Order: sequence, then C-alpha cells, then structure tokens
Amino acid sequence: MGSVNWGAHSTVPGKTLTNVRLYNDTMRTWRDMDDFEEFLDTGGVVEPNDAMPEPYRQAVFRFIELHANSEYMGGLTERDWIPKAPGLHRKLTALAKTQDEIGHAHLLYMVAADLGIKTREEMMVDLLEGRTHFHNVFHYRVHSWTDQIAVAYLVDAAALASQQAVFKNCSYGPYKRILRRVIAEEGFHMRNGEEMMLLMAHGSDTQHEMMQESIDRWWLPAVQLFGPDSRPDDELLRWHIKSERNEDLRDRYVQKFVPQLLACGFTIPDPGLEKDKNDGKWKISPIDWEPLKQTMRNGGPDSARRISDARNAWNNAEWVRDALTNQPAPT
Ligand SMILES: [Fe+2]
Ligand SMILES: [Fe+2]
Repeated sequence: MGSVNWGAHSTVPGKTLTNVRLYNDTMRTWRDMDDFEEFLDTGGVVEPNDAMPEPYRQAVFRFIELHANSEYMGGLTERDWIPKAPGLHRKLTALAKTQDEIGHAHLLYMVAADLGIKTREEMMVDLLEGRTHFHNVFHYRVHSWTDQIAVAYLVDAAALASQQAVFKNCSYGPYKRILRRVIAEEGFHMRNGEEMMLLMAHGSDTQHEMMQESIDRWWLPAVQLFGPDSRPDDELLRWHIKSERNEDLRDRYVQKFVPQLLACGFTIPDPGLEKDKNDGKWKISPIDWEPLKQTMRNGGPDSARRISDARNAWNNAEWVRDALTNQPAPT
C-alpha cells in the first residue's frame, strides 16, 4: 500500500490536539471502577476532561473512530455518484448527502480527538494506510444507480437504527450531543432512499428488476451492519455507550423492512426466511460471520480501491490544507 503525503503542516509527530475544549470546570474523579459504573448506571454523563477510567476512554474512542471512518468512507462513495446521478434533482440530493456524511465525519473526528488518544491527523493516517477499520457496507462495490438507492434505503436505515440506539442512553456527553444532529440528517437520507425505491418499485419492469438485483446485493450487508450477536459481557453495553444488543436491533430492522419490501413486490434474498407461526415475527437464516470478519480486516471485494481512492482524495486536497494553515498574518 502506498504512503500518504501528509504535507508540511502535519502534526503527527508532535501529537498536537486539533480540537480540545473544556466542557465543565471541574474534573470529576471516581474511587474505582465500581464507583464509575454506579455513576453510569444511574444515568451519569461523562465529559472529556473528567478523569474517566482508561478502559472506558479507550472503548469510547475505538467506537467513535470506527463511526467517523465509516461516515468518511460513506461520504466518498456518495461523492462518486454525484456526476452519475440521473438528472439535476438527484444530483442535488447526492451532493447534499455527500456534504452531510463528510460533515458527520468531521464532527465525529473532533469528538474522538478530544479523548486525547490520537489526533485527527493520526486517525486519518491510520485509516488511509489501512490500519483502522470502517463499516462492512463500505467494502463492497456499488454497481448501479439502483445499488445507490439500495444503499440509501437499506444501509442508511440500518446505520440510523444503530445510531438511534446509541443516542438513546449514551453515557459519553459529546458523542450524544453530536448524534442528535447526525440522526436528524440520516433520517432524511433514509426517506430519500425510500422515495427512490418506491419510484423503482412502481416503475417499468426493467426498473423493478434492477431494484431487485440491488436488493439481492445489499440485503445481507445491511442486516450484517449491526454486527454479530452481542457478547453477554459486552463492555459497550455495560458502560452505556450502546443501549441495545446487536441481535435486538437486527430483529427490529428485519420486522420493519421485510414487510415493506414484500409489499413493493420484491423478494428477500434469504431462502430460509420465514414467518414464525407462534409469534408472527420474521426469522432470517443464521448468518455466516466468517466472510464479514475478513471484510472488516479491509479484505472485502472493494476495500483496496476504496482506501486508495480515499488516499487520492486526501492528497488532492493538500492545497486546501496548505491554504488554511499558511494564511498571511492579519495586518
Ligand atoms: Fe452519516
Ligand atoms: Fe447517511
């Protein structure tokens, strides 16, 4: 993998924080982990300048860094489709969605940097050198415009559902506050996907067939976005970073999207899918998680191209960073 050109302004060696703010005047401390967990269990909210236990700081950081990387890679995919979107109206929505996703990444990188573990530049280096990770759905190729619709309808909806579950009871204050805005915008993305999907569902036979092909490609990645079933001792749940188990989020998603797709005349690409006679709920086939693990190690079908494109985008924008950091002194 080629190296990244960081430019003369890079702060990587010096570990200069790019975004440090004080959220409250007093640094709170806890006697031990039991004391801290009791604080969390009673609805306590942690701020960046609190003396939080190191394992909590690391867990929150890893989670937000993964989220930020995913928003960034998603924004670049969206950008690819601005020139290919059919007509001015669709180009404008693709443009707006690109700005939203890149904006989400910026906000999340700032929140992650405030945890004092890595600077924003260090996070970018690690992402573009393939050392850190991003959500499974951004490791696959988007083949067609209907794939873009499936991504907006199925994937943005899955991302929204998992973000809502984090927002609901998130113990890390800055993340919860940023998620309020991210969720509002993701809601628009999902509605936009739904509107486009309905057009295809009720369009020509060719449009319907193309949409079905895209649903066939994106259904499994979307239900896998929630991740494997949560471990009983999942620290993200214990520390109220997440509020719901992965399998519960997935189940709710399946109960909502299977009937919607069937009502639009589509089929679900899961031969084992069936409605339980006892509780009336849709049950999907067991998921083989091995291919996902490989994908998440940046070994998916489109991982290398996407990381290389992200690296080129970063290098091509070097003049912007230079212009911002080398501004003439005010006279
Ligand atoms: Fe987003
Ligand atoms: Fe989105």
